[in-house]
Formats: sequence, structure tokens, C-alpha cells
Amino acid sequence: MSRTQVVIIGAGPAGLLLSHLLAADGVESVVLETRSRRYVEARVRAGILESSTVGLLDSVGLGERLHREGHEHRGIYLQWPEERHHLDFVDLGESSIWLYGQTEVTRDLGRAREAAGQQISYEISDTALHDVGTDRPYVTWTGGDGRPERLDADVVVGCDGSFGPSRGTVPAGSQQTWERTYPYAWLGILADVAPSTDELIYAWHPDGFAMHSMRSESVSRLYLQVPPGTDLATWSDDRIWDALAVRLGHGQEGWELTPGPITDRSVLPMRSFVATPMRYGRLFLAGDAAHIVPPTGAKGLNLAVADVALLAPAVSALLRGDPRPAEAYSDTALRRVWRCTHFSWWMTTMLHSTGDPFDDQLQLSQLRRVCGSEHAAAELAANYSGLPIGL
Ligand code: APR
Ligand code: PHB
Repeated sequence: MSRTQVVIIGAGPAGLLLSHLLAADGVESVVLETRSRRYVEARVRAGILESSTVGLLDSVGLGERLHREGHEHRGIYLQWPEERHHLDFVDLGESSIWLYGQTEVTRDLGRAREAAGQQISYEISDTALHDVGTDRPYVTWTGGDGRPERLDADVVVGCDGSFGPSRGTVPAGSQQTWERTYPYAWLGILADVAPSTDELIYAWHPDGFAMHSMRSESVSRLYLQVPPGTDLATWSDDRIWDALAVRLGHGQEGWELTPGPITDRSVLPMRSFVATPMRYGRLFLAGDAAHIVPPTGAKGLNLAVADVALLAPAVSALLRGDPRPAEAYSDTALRRVWRCTHFSWWMTTMLHSTGDPFDDQLQLSQLRRVCGSEHAAAELAANYSGLPIGL
């Protein structure tokens, strides 16, 4: 019978970073992942790192490429027709943010874990968690070679995203879920063209929200609000660039949006979801396995990092015989989760068109307030860039 100290389900950023932090504490783990390493490292996701995320990655030797290839931004632009305002988080007393794709974070983690000899089993199937309510949990799966496997552990951590099996292992009566679905989605593109802006633009428009982000000097990332269930086939390249130009204000005060070849496109659903508590017996949940936020405000990856930054020392202490940090994990993590759930809901609600003219007026009033009052701007900045790991 094989045994390890911690089985981590999922090799996304939460699972890989957790294995890295545990190893630094001398705790052994095995990571299980259904997809291939190539797939995991190619997935296109958001790209903004909060200062606490950057600080954590720096402190565990994962910040080198981020500082070399990433870009530090002092703030964001907020705009609505005829007006664009820059919110400078640093001038507002908060931190800068870093533009560095989640794809790159995952690659850096993959390389670091490989160099350290971390055991990661990719392309497995039939992952099942057993006896997590006892102190002898184990996990079974089918290996890439078709062989059935079993691994016993002291602790199992579900880092398996929103569709993984870990959350569903918790008995229904021991878990509560909270959910909001939004009546809109995002159409996201990657394009081989230099960004038309130096920092991110979040744009309110009566046709729907639009956003201009980027990945590098030669790759832009842009989003359009679309109805849920939108068929990508109905959005030609020209239609996408025309809508982006209108909503982002091409031609206003000399600003121009430069279109380019689209290399990736997808429709992202918008959902808020929280499962509480984030622990059941010897099973802990972290990242998207426990909570989902809509992408407005780029909190998903930062929340996953904050969870495992709290969880790694808690699990190490538990294995050394001190259960207190593990007992505090869920409540501590959920304070930040709910703060980010509120912030991403608030940003989403302020910026997306509902088609109701009364909502339009409330949103414009809120946007004017945020851009016109230093207090209101500082509150946005603090939530966007300055949340500490343990609130
Ligand atoms: N067995 C093993 N692994 C699984 C299983 C399973 N049955 N089901 C899912 N997984 C894997 C997925 O293939 C994925 O690689 O778990 C991983 C979860 O990774 P993410 O979805 O990236 O979640 P997380 O690590 O929590 O990172 C959160 O990712 O979704 C974004 O916006 C989110 O930026 C945030 C970040
Ligand atoms: C991105 O760069 O993909 C991005 C940035 C900020 C967001 C969402 C997505 O709020």
C-alpha cells in the first residue's frame, strides 16, 4: 500500500503552489491531474497579480521571470462614453499590480516542481476520494497506463477547480453553497497586436461592457459583454473588432484601437459561487474547488494563491500535531473569499449593461462617484490591489 503525507487533487495554480509551499516546509505530497501537463500549461486565463500574490511568489523563489517579463501597472482606466479616467492605485495609497498571465505562473510552477522532483501524475482518470471524514483518508484513480491506483494520506486537498470531484465528497448536510449567476457572459480574444493602451481599460457602454487587457508588448487580450450561451460562430473577426472599437471609444480624443489577427477566442460564463466550510475532516478545499468569482477584477487566481498560502502552514502544523491553524483555515480564508466575492460582484454590477435605463443611470452615477471622489477611488484600489493574504 502506498502512502504519502498529502494528496493534492489538481495541478492548476492552487495545487502546484500548494505542493511547492509544503515541500519548503518539509512536507511530502503527490499531485494528481486529469489533463496533460501541456494542456494545463496552455490554458488561457486571467493575467493580473495583486501585490500580495507577487510578494508570496517572490518569497518562495518563484518571482524571477515574473519580474523580468511581467509588467508593473500603477492602476487601471475606468471609462464610459466620452470620459476616460485613470485611477492610480499608488497615488491613492495602495499597491501596484503586475500583469503576468496565469499561464506563465503555471509554467513557472511546473518547472520549479519538476526541478524539485515533485511527483505529479498527469492524465489520470476516475479520481475518487474515500474516508475523508476519518483520519485515514485515501484516494483511488486509474493511471495513464490504465492501472488502478490507491494512495493513503494524512490529508487530502481538493484543488480540482469548479468541476472536480473533491467538493462533492463532502456530505450534503455538512456543506452550504451560495451562488449568483449573471445574465451576461464575456467573449474573450487573444490577438497578435500591440496593446492600444498602457494599462487596462474597463469600459461601461450601453451596448455592453468591454475591456482591454494585454499579455505582452505584442499580444493583446480583450473582452466583450455578450449574452450567455452566445455562439462564437455569430461573431466574425470584423464584428468583434467593430464592437470593441465602439465600446472602447475608438476615435475619441485621438485614441485609436488597433485591430490584429485573433489567435484564440472563447465565451466565459459569469458566476459567483462559494462552498462553506472549506474543510471536512481531513479534506481541505482551495481555489476554484471552493469558490468561483466572475472575472471582473481578476480575483480568481489571487484568491487561489491566498488560500494555499494559508493552508500550507496549517497542514504542516496539523502533521506536526498542532490542529489549531487547520481549524482556523476555513474561517480565515472565507473572510478574503467573501471580500473578493463582494468586490467582483460590485465591479460586475457597476460595469455591465442590463438593458434597463434605470440601471444605466445608477451605474453612471457610481462610476462618476468612483472617479470623482478620492475616498471612493481608494476603496476600489484597496480591493483591487491591496488585500493582504489573511484579512
Ligand atoms: N482529478 C484530478 N484533477 C482534476 C480533476 C480530477 N477528477 N478534475 C479537475 N482536475 C484538475 C483540472 O484539470 C485543473 O487542472 O484540477 C485543476 C484545477 O485547476 P484550476 O481550474 O486552474 O483551479 P485552481 O488551481 O483553483 O486555480 C484557480 O484558475 O479557473 C481559474 O479563475 C480561476 O484564476 C483562477 C484559478
Ligand atoms: C485578463 O488580463 O485576462 C484580465 C484582466 C483583468 C480582469 C479580467 C481579466 O478583470
